[in-house]
Amino acid sequence: MNIVLLGPPGAGKGTVAALLKKELGVPHISTGDIFRENIKNGTELGKKVQGIMASGGLVPDEVTIEMVRDRLSKDDTAQGYILDGFPRTIAQAEALCTIDDIDRVINFVLDEEEIVKRLSGRRLCKSTGRIYHIVSNPPKKEGIDDETGEPLIQRDDDKPEAIRHRLEVYRKDTAPLIGFYTEKGLITDIDASVSPEEVLASVLAALKA
Ligand code: AP5
Repeated sequence: MNIVLLGPPGAGKGTVAALLKKELGVPHISTGDIFRENIKNGTELGKKVQGIMASGGLVPDEVTIEMVRDRLSKDDTAQGYILDGFPRTIAQAEALCTIDDIDRVINFVLDEEEIVKRLSGRRLCKSTGRIYHIVSNPPKKEGIDDETGEPLIQRDDDKPEAIRHRLEVYRKDTAPLIGFYTEKGLITDIDASVSPEEVLASVLAALKA
């Protein structure tokens, strides 16, 4: 099954994708994670996107679309995948239609006050990408990853200025995808304000329906 997770920044897409991946046994493909990996490894792509990401802007469509086209051509996507953070613009959604058929789009619904709380409290392990929250999902030892023992970091785009910009970009460029996928009859809204396990249960029910 080919699934798209749609929703505002910080709505919990990555957290639920990690749980869903275990349930479905298909890869979790996060464009944000692929860009961050490139930045960490100092690749040309990483150098190109670093400033854009830190400010909360969007990487140009042509760069992102080609990266996803390449990723979806890999053998591990044959039984399906979970796309997280793509598409994010109408141009990306139109390009995705030419790459593959999408079976279901899950739209995470969460109000902005809660989004800001989630993003400003998020911490992650740089090497594994494991996600924490200082209040709702803290590590066993403050500031330290439970499994690797590495110090946790805060993403550059989780600083207040970048959060504001990401929300504006979401409203202008990404929210129109709700109409795009509603017209195709593919979208299911999910209440993302409950616990990750409850969100997962709603997603699984939507996929079965
Ligand atoms: P990306 O990494 O995709 O960021 P995002 O969409 O803004 O989403 P986030 O990762 O911020 O949030 P999330 O919904 O995954 O929430 P999470 O599970 O972490 O993109 C980053 C950047 O890359 C973009 O700004 C852009 O520059 C570039 N980019 C990526 N894709 C692109 C594209 N297609 N086109 C162009 N540019 C692109 O949870 C957040 C926090 O909340 C965590 O602390 C978590 O512990 C907590 N939490 C999660 N769920 C719950 C819950 N149910 N209850 C309580 N707390 C929870």
